[in-house]
Amino acid sequence: MTDRYAVIGHPISHSKSPLIHKMFAEQTGQDISYEAIEAPLDGFAATIERLRAEGYKGCNVTVPFKFEAYRLVSSQQRARIEAELAKAVNTLSFLDDSQIFGDNTDGIGLVQDIQQNLKVVLSGKRVLLMGAGGAAYGVALPLLNAEAKLVVANRTEDKAFELASRFNADRITGCGYEALSGQQFDVVINATSSGLSDELPPLPPGIFAPGALAYDMMYGRETPFMRFAREQGAAQVADGLGMLVEQAAEAFYIWCGVRPDTVPVLAALRG
Ligand code: ATR
Repeated sequence: MTDRYAVIGHPISHSKSPLIHKMFAEQTGQDISYEAIEAPLDGFAATIERLRAEGYKGCNVTVPFKFEAYRLVSSQQRARIEAELAKAVNTLSFLDDSQIFGDNTDGIGLVQDIQQNLKVVLSGKRVLLMGAGGAAYGVALPLLNAEAKLVVANRTEDKAFELASRFNADRITGCGYEALSGQQFDVVINATSSGLSDELPPLPPGIFAPGALAYDMMYGRETPFMRFAREQGAAQVADGLGMLVEQAAEAFYIWCGVRPDTVPVLAALRG
């Protein structure tokens, strides 16, 4: 019987996830269906209940429901550590005993994309993570697990301190943008929402070390940060499409126990 999955968001019509999971399923021979479902803003929990009642096996969760999805599973201690630290869930698994398990595969997806697809090893590298909102929280732990030396910079400095202290590790520090003057990084990741308003975080010039990677977690168009990185001579400039495919692959693995090959899928999406 076909196992049913979905992605839930609002809005959701632009989502590439159904196409990505269809390609994964074809490639691995898994018998699954995957659709995009728009939940009303006040109807996330009801939508999850409906899917469970209809026998779905799991779903991905996207904007603006990741925190609600976390709350749903955290009260029963059914959130994996990445989700617990991020306070955000992007992958729900509906288990046979009627429990729901929550994961956050965003950070693993980012690390996979950087290391496997872009061929940048993170261990020992100086990594600047810009932003201290949900997107930054979602990726901090996997970056630390990859042994990066992490600096979190945020416009509202206090939030960067708070993020850094949440992880309680000596390889992560928080700061404002002014403190970055004179520093260089091997990897600079934009986890702010600045691209949505066509803005650039206030980065000082000279921030990119020789051979540096500039990574914007947004995809779909060139952001001011990506333009800045090219002008400043970053060796590689990447958008977040690879992260999207890799986080989907991790969710697919959680559900189906099979790891898809992401290379042809990413190539197909890039056209
Ligand atoms: P998300 O869930 O996408 O992370 P969020 O929680 O609203 O969204 O967080 C947005 C992040 O982008 C914040 O870190 C925000 O900085 P502030 O905490 O100072 O508001 C950051 N951000 C948004 N626009 C920005 C800009 N133009 N320059 C720098 N940072 C920006």
